[in-house]
Order: sequence, then structure tokens, then C-alpha cells
Amino acid sequence: MKVRSWAEPFKIKMVESLRMTTPDERELAIAAAGFNTFLLRSADVYIDLLTDSGTSAMSDRQWAGMMMGDEAYAGSANYYNLERVVHRVYGYKHLIPTHQGRGAEHILSRLLIKPGDVVPGNMYFTTTRAHQELAGGRFVDVIVDAAHDPRDESPFKGNIDLVKLQQLIAQVGASKIPYVCVQCCVNMAGGQPISMQNIAATHALCHRHGIKVMLDATRAVENAYFIKVREPGFSHRSIEEILLELCSYSDGCTNSAKKDCLVNMGGFLCLNDDALAEEARNMVVLFEGLHTYGGLAGRDMEAIAIGITESVQFEHLRARVGQVEYLGRLLEAGGVPIVKPIGGHGIFIDAARFLPHLTREQLPAQALAAAIYVESGVRTMERGLVSAGRDPDTGLNHTPKLELVRLTIPRRVYTQAHMDVTAESLIALHDEPERVVGLRFEHEPKCLRFFQATFAPVEGSVVLKHPDFSGKSVQPIAPDQPCTLL
Ligand code: F0G
Repeated sequence: MKVRSWAEPFKIKMVESLRMTTPDERELAIAAAGFNTFLLRSADVYIDLLTDSGTSAMSDRQWAGMMMGDEAYAGSANYYNLERVVHRVYGYKHLIPTHQGRGAEHILSRLLIKPGDVVPGNMYFTTTRAHQELAGGRFVDVIVDAAHDPRDESPFKGNIDLVKLQQLIAQVGASKIPYVCVQCCVNMAGGQPISMQNIAATHALCHRHGIKVMLDATRAVENAYFIKVREPGFSHRSIEEILLELCSYSDGCTNSAKKDCLVNMGGFLCLNDDALAEEARNMVVLFEGLHTYGGLAGRDMEAIAIGITESVQFEHLRARVGQVEYLGRLLEAGGVPIVKPIGGHGIFIDAARFLPHLTREQLPAQALAAAIYVESGVRTMERGLVSAGRDPDTGLNHTPKLELVRLTIPRRVYTQAHMDVTAESLIALHDEPERVVGLRFEHEPKCLRFFQATFAPVEGSVVLKHPDFSGKSVQPIAPDQPCTLL
């Protein structure tokens, strides 16, 4: 049978111009940003693959919904629309809107975690773990070992290792575990999904011990897609049916609507327990806003409600994940080492293998992200030692096995041609890895350091040597001197 291609199930109505810069301009910009792609100005970025968070293009229906914002302080009609859609699609009883995912994480952590508690999860996520620690808890990773191996091609590398979880329960006691945090399409592992069979078994084990299961449903819709296409027995079921079943194996969820739900801002907490929901509503008033808006405008809630209904369309998901796979296949064909299998929201480059001449202390993923920017204008993000932070008890660096650079694909924003030029520049860089210079910390913030840290090259002043290796050095501009490229 001949291969038939998929195509985006939309056409483009409005465009936003991109600005291409020269390598010299980018060298100055990245030096001014302390070699941290988070500190670049987006005006200096050509193709922005920093994150899929809040970067989606909204549909005409969502924009129309924005005009229907009911900006009442209390009881906005849009809240009730959102509540109805969340109930129908995710299935939870109580909806508490928050300004974004971490707002929901904050409330959930404060609500359930006591000092000394242990929160197991399928690999950490930066903000999630930070809130668990802030509430006095300790995160313990119980993901399957395969998740830590970029070359392992298992289809569900987001699965919980039930033996590890059981051993942890035996070791610390169920009373010390307020809930197990189950993330869908595990971000730091490369967007790797959890299988239905595994979450069902996790739920059964937890409930035998009276432990709750809380879903990080941020990428649950994309996880449902992977269950449909990868897990035996699910191909004939709709995304909506799969998602409802997936969520049914949990007692509630936190959700950053900035991803799957196709909006630029928003999030929510869901709970099935009436008493807990009552407590959470008390808390949301304090930290986010009244329980019927949680830090969001009415129009934002309407856009989320419509975005959710669009997010569960199979054709949308096929094109979204298809685009990520398209980029991954190009990179693979060009010899670039990437995390396999290709996940839902981005391509994760194995920086340790890409830059074998750098030691771990030379922060290969941070250096590679900075070098990719200089080479191509494409903005990516470090997901390795820098993101992992320090152990709050010992103060020592966490040393995750994975040292990755993430190329995260915004939903419905870029075209296949953008993927082509991205892949071409990465492949060119991969052919001359010795051009990339390692980095060291210059300034290390205490909390979630990767966002605002600054770095310096371990030798010279540039992160990417010129192709002729002459080492032409550019004076980094002084930190107090703004970088004006416009
Ligand atoms: N959980 C997961 C799995 C996430 O990926 C994120 C955000 C959050 C929670 C927090 O949500 O940003 O709305 O507060 N991830 C973004 C990223 C920042 O780039 O991966 P938020």
C-alpha cells in the first residue's frame, strides 16, 4: 500500500513575521543573556522551540469565544462553560481554576502534603517538585528504569515501576504518602506516555493502601493519543473515551491549560472529594482569586473550554504528534542522537552523546542549547543537570541520568518547512561538535535555577567557535549594557 501523508486539519488566517538575525548578532545576544536561552529576548529568536507552554495558536472559534467573556467577579458564565467541558472531557467532579499549572500544584501540595511526607512520582517535574518540597515533602522517583535510558524504545517509558512503589510504601509507610503524582506524557523523560494498564495497576495498588492518585494531566490528551495508537486494545476507542478512563484512575488532577488545552494562559485543579474541594476553594481565594475565576479572566476560561473540545479531536492530535515525529525522523536520519521513542511535545537531543568532548561539569545540554541558538536562531532549552537543581537536604547537585536539550513544538504554530530548516542546522552542528564550548555557572539562583541562571564559557568568550576554528573571540557585552539588535 502506498504511504498517505497526514496534513494539518486547519488553514492559516493570520501570520506573524519572523526575524532572522546573523550569527554575529546572535553571539552578542546569547552572551548578553548569560548563555541561558530563557534570558534571550524573543525578538532575537527566529524559531522558538523553548516550550510548548502558552505558545499555541488559538483557533477562530477560540478568538470568537474571547469576545464572549463574562467578566463578572463572581459566577462568570464562562466558568460554568469550562466546568461543564472539564466534567465531560476529564470526568472530575470539582473544578478549581488557577492562573496556570503551578497555581494548581501550589494548592494541591499545601492541601495534602505535611512536613516529612514522601511524594512518589513518575520522574520529577521542576515546578511540581518545587511545590512538593515547599510544602515539606520529599519527591521520590518511581518511574521505570527505561525512562532514564534515551536509547530504550519501550512504548510506555512514562510507566510507574510498581515494584519500586511497593518497596517505597513498605519502607516509609502508607501514612507518610499523601498521594502518588502520576504525570502524563512525562516531560523530563522526553514526553513519554504512561499506559492505561500501568495507571490502572498503580491506582489499584495505591487504593489498597489508602493512598490517593493525583494526575498531572497537563499532557493527558496527548497521552490518550499514544494509548490509542500504541496500546493493544485501544485503537477502536475515541480519544474522549480513553481520556475519561485514564482520569478515572485518579482522585483529581492538576493541569496547565497552556499545553494540551491550546491557550496562552490558564490552568486548573480538579478533585473528586467534596471536603477536599471545599478546602481547596478556601485556599484558591487566598492565592489565586475567587473560586469561579482563579486568576483568570472570563474570556480566558471560555478559550480554555473551547480549546479542550478541539484538543481531543483525533485529526488535531495526529497532526500535532505527527509534526513532532517528522522533526525527529529528520534528525535521526542526519545522525543526531535523540531520545527514543519520539514523545508527544518535542524532540529531546541527547547532549551527552552529541558533545562527547564535554564533561558533565561543563554542562553539555546548557552549552548545546546556547550553541544551537548561535548557529541557527532556533531557541531550545536545557533539560539536564541545570534543570535538576540541588537536593534541598544536602545542597548537592541532583545528577539526572539524562542530559538533554529539548526542542519543544508549539501547537499549530510552525510549518513543516520550519522543521526542515531546524533539522538542517542541527545536523550541520552535529557534524562539527568540537565547535561547542562547555559552560560553567556564573550566577545560580536558589529556586528553579534554570530559569534565571547565567553562565560563562569554560574557555574563551564564545559558546560556539567559528567554523574555521580560528577561535575569533567576540567581547561579551557588559551585563549592564542592553543588547539592542532592533
Ligand atoms: N506539569 C508539567 C508536566 C509541565 O510540563 C508544566 C509546565 C507544569 C506542570 C507547570 O505548568 O507552566 O502552567 O505553571 N511546563 C512548561 C514547560 C513550563 O516548558 O515544560 P505551568
